[in-house]
Amino acid sequence: MRKLLRLSFVLLLVFASNASALSQTRAQESAARFFPAKDLMRVGVYYYPEHWPESQWDRDFANMERLGFEFVHMAEFAWANMEPEEGKFDFAWLDKAVELAARHHLKVILCTPTPTPPAWMYEKYPQAYLVGADGRRREHGSRGNNALADATYLRLTERVVTELARRYGRNPAVWGWQLDNEPGAWPDYSPSAQAAFREWLKSRYKTIGALNKEWGAAFWSLTYNSFDQILAPNPSTLYGVSPHAILDFRRFTADLTAKFLNWQAAVLRRHTQPSQWITTNYISNTSYSDPRRSDALDFISYTMYPVGGGRGLGEDGFRLGWQDGIAFANAFYKNIKGATGVMELQPGQVNWAWINPQPAPGVIRMWLWHAFAGGLSFACNYRYRQPLYGSELYHYGIVRTDGVTPSPGGLQYSQVAREMRELRAKYDPNAKPPAAYGARRTAILWNHDNLWNIDYQKQTGLWDTWGHMFRYVGIAKSFGAPLEIIPESEDFTKYPVLMAPAYQLLDEELVRKWTRYVEAGGHLVLTARTGQKRRNGQLWEARWAEPIYALIGAEVSFFDLLLDDGKGEVRMNGDAHAWNVWADVLKPAEGTESLAQYSNQFYAGQSAVTYRRLGKGSVTYIGVQTRDGQLEKNVLREVYRRAGLSTEDYPAGVYVDWRDGFWVAVNYSSRPAEIKAAKGAEILYGTQPLKPADVLVWR
Ligand code: GAL
Repeated sequence: MRKLLRLSFVLLLVFASNASALSQTRAQESAARFFPAKDLMRVGVYYYPEHWPESQWDRDFANMERLGFEFVHMAEFAWANMEPEEGKFDFAWLDKAVELAARHHLKVILCTPTPTPPAWMYEKYPQAYLVGADGRRREHGSRGNNALADATYLRLTERVVTELARRYGRNPAVWGWQLDNEPGAWPDYSPSAQAAFREWLKSRYKTIGALNKEWGAAFWSLTYNSFDQILAPNPSTLYGVSPHAILDFRRFTADLTAKFLNWQAAVLRRHTQPSQWITTNYISNTSYSDPRRSDALDFISYTMYPVGGGRGLGEDGFRLGWQDGIAFANAFYKNIKGATGVMELQPGQVNWAWINPQPAPGVIRMWLWHAFAGGLSFACNYRYRQPLYGSELYHYGIVRTDGVTPSPGGLQYSQVAREMRELRAKYDPNAKPPAAYGARRTAILWNHDNLWNIDYQKQTGLWDTWGHMFRYVGIAKSFGAPLEIIPESEDFTKYPVLMAPAYQLLDEELVRKWTRYVEAGGHLVLTARTGQKRRNGQLWEARWAEPIYALIGAEVSFFDLLLDDGKGEVRMNGDAHAWNVWADVLKPAEGTESLAQYSNQFYAGQSAVTYRRLGKGSVTYIGVQTRDGQLEKNVLREVYRRAGLSTEDYPAGVYVDWRDGFWVAVNYSSRPAEIKAAKGAEILYGTQPLKPADVLVWR
């Protein structure tokens, strides 16, 4: 058995390393080459021909074309249709669908069907199932229940992907490929995943002694004699498990998913022409998987469902949608390879939230314009037809249940498709970003390691790692700053302002990189929890978070947390702000200014926010997370001001971006907003004041 498992991982490694070598060169070129700038943003639809009678396909494609769509996305999840029996392939149906789509001038995105292995696979090879932390196999009957390290699953994947590539890799109707679907990197406790985890650890640590040290295995007698004894850490056991083991397990799972995708890309590329791009569609803020790791893909796209049971802003926020979602995703995904698109965007009511409201009239058009404003090359809805059967009943489509009547969202998609065509006629290839806007270019530093480490030991149940970061997204956007979410490998000096929210794990090298950035004129903003731990999740044998002291010019004496109704108070320039989630209590060194102080609790008078100049730049440390974020915003406004960077003051939920010569404003707040910048300009779409759910476009 063990031998078999080993073989399975060896196979995976072989696949993975060949894959990377083959794919790397192509994937390193900028993805922008696939999307001519003058096309601006193309608009398309998801279609599942296998769900509908063949006699309706032509009508459906004709209607898509009439509505203005330019591409169609197909073959996702259709493994059982492509390979109804093991080794017997049937592509006649897909040939026909691709041909009909092309006849209606729709470019085709094809998908690999790998998250939905057919029943025959599981019947014959039950080892291909993913196993949850509860030890139960995720049986056939849903999707995403496949074990990514299982050799049989990989062999069958390679075969179906190869068949697809051979058949469509040179078909001019095929624009590009989507691998899999929303790769989730779900923790897998199957035998193949366990074996792969041990191999991953071996290549990371080489000796078991090194692993014991990094995992702090002396604690609770966890010391291992050999890698063969290691089990994937299971948080559902009686007491907590090692946070260091969990961190590595998360890294491993994200790597396994990325390797799987990188390898699939290489399998496809054996037979596809270079003009066909390869992507996948990650959930916008995906927690277990790490989109950046799929580095052999041409670019990474994202999926977005803004109205999914959240409150949003103000009384209509639940219909206007998650205000930071598209802003964040645009900033995160475009930075990865220089181009991106939204592969799934809700066309109306969905079916999976606790409560599924109707989106506000017009808001779907607004989301599409917001996607455009963020520089996206395409936007695709999920899905064309509202399903009549299956687990996504109640999910809206571009057309309603009769298959022909456009839904309100369908009409909005159609309108944007038309507006994009109109805009293309006004495109100016020489348009340059306005100076003040370009000057406040801002980056947020992000590493999934911090999320994984914090989320296993939050220390307060009120903490939300994504939410903490989104707060800074919101602030940068309210200042009207062009924003990118960047990795540590990026050249920081491109960004006058760099924020690193809750950057809990670091090493001295990163501190040196930050220091050089600041000395050269950068403005660095660090926030609560930063620098507490080493990369392996262990605390420093030093004063608390000491490696950042010299940089921030302060000490972090301790931190405090309050209950959910706690009434912590912090003051800046005489104004009081309430907090209860997190408070780093700071002691500024000489030459460091305290910008805000706690005004109650036993440490009243001590600093919550420090600021210092260093070289040509500055370092700000915001130790507190307030209830409404106003203090953080005030601090940042001061930081930009002192840096000589102008800021706008858009209300929360109002986003204004510039792209290719066009300004776009959207409004997720429940109130109308006057957009000063648009005064006197040539308005292309919309009216002042900008109503909620509406769009203003000018140049
Ligand atoms: C997405 C998923 C789609 C579909 C959709 C429904 O998360 O990628 O396949 O299930 O949700 O809203």
